[in-house]
Amino acid sequence: MPEGSRFEIVSREDFSDATFLLEIRHPMMARAARPGQFVIVMSHEHGERIPLTLADFDRARGTITLVIQAVGKTTREMQQGCRVGDYLYGVVGPMGVPSHVAGVRKAAVVGGGLGVAPIYPQARGLKEQGAYVVGILGFRNRDLIFWEDKFRACCDELIICTDDGSAGIKGLVTEGIRRTMEVHPDLDQVVAIGPPVMMKACAEATRPAKIKTIVSLNPVMVDGTGMCGGCRVTIGQKVKFACVDGPDFDGHEVDFEDLQVRLRRYVEDEKAALERWQGQCRMDHHPN
Ligand SMILES: Cc1cc2nc3c(=O)[nH]c(=O)nc-3n(C[C@H](O)[C@H](O)[C@H](O)COP(=O)(O)OP(=O)(O)OC[C@H]3O[C@@H](n4cnc5c(N)ncnc54)[C@H](O)[C@@H]3O)c2cc1C
Ligand code: FES
Repeated sequence: MPEGSRFEIVSREDFSDATFLLEIRHPMMARAARPGQFVIVMSHEHGERIPLTLADFDRARGTITLVIQAVGKTTREMQQGCRVGDYLYGVVGPMGVPSHVAGVRKAAVVGGGLGVAPIYPQARGLKEQGAYVVGILGFRNRDLIFWEDKFRACCDELIICTDDGSAGIKGLVTEGIRRTMEVHPDLDQVVAIGPPVMMKACAEATRPAKIKTIVSLNPVMVDGTGMCGGCRVTIGQKVKFACVDGPDFDGHEVDFEDLQVRLRRYVEDEKAALERWQGQCRMDHHPN
């Protein structure tokens, strides 16, 4: 395989039964990457192309980091098959418009569940630009917390929220936003990444105070080049393509209902693909 097309997995960490981290050697991508961008990955020659956000990049080590939640066929296949020393078949990117970090004076970066990983480059990027950064991270419970130290290193304040109160404050990230807005009425930007329902709630929390709120949208993507129309989203009643116009958009302008409807469109096909793959796995492991 030619140099530059071997994407070695140099480390792996499992955060929970469903969430795992892969660090991949890719010096060119690490040099080019900016906060808010994503890559399209094919784990093997016959694999599906899936978009994954750059959760970190280290120019000195020449690596990029992906944090993946095993939800369906491809991500479960990666969870089962990707080991240190293996190679990913394809990694295309960096894609998408980099996040706007310049000129922001005081920001809250809000990550919910898996959204905690992709919000990290934004927290670090804002800090490097001289902003005062409040990190607000939401998890279901204390066992699911990851990267607390990484965030402490680049945030001026860190608020952990858990649904059950087992760590930090009991409540959703919107409670963290409410407290931050009270203490910092001069907040000039909120960035929120997580499930659509969470991003919508964050946008509603800041709307009355008119604080600019950026969300990172995750519609189904196919080509990632603006050609197929798969990732169409409605922003301020205009059609945009998340792969080339986003994935960051103004949360106060996003039509979240439209996004949710489009995300549900392929549920039956996704279920069938997972069942086929699980059936195949069972046959492969059958003693006869
Ligand atoms: C810009 C962007 C960044 C993303 N970053 C991350 C990340 O950092 N970590 C992570 O775990 N996930 C991320 N995702 C979601 C990830 O791409 C999907 O979870 C993955 O494609 C699911 O594939 P699957 O075969 O395992 O599951 P499937 O059963 O095929 O799908 C499960 C769900 O994942 C979503 N999905 C499926 N196919 C796609 C696709 N081609 N493009 C986008 N979403 C899809 C749909 O909501 C679907 O209902 C991102 C999505 C986008 C658009
Ligand atoms: S993924 Fe095809 S247009 Fe965005």
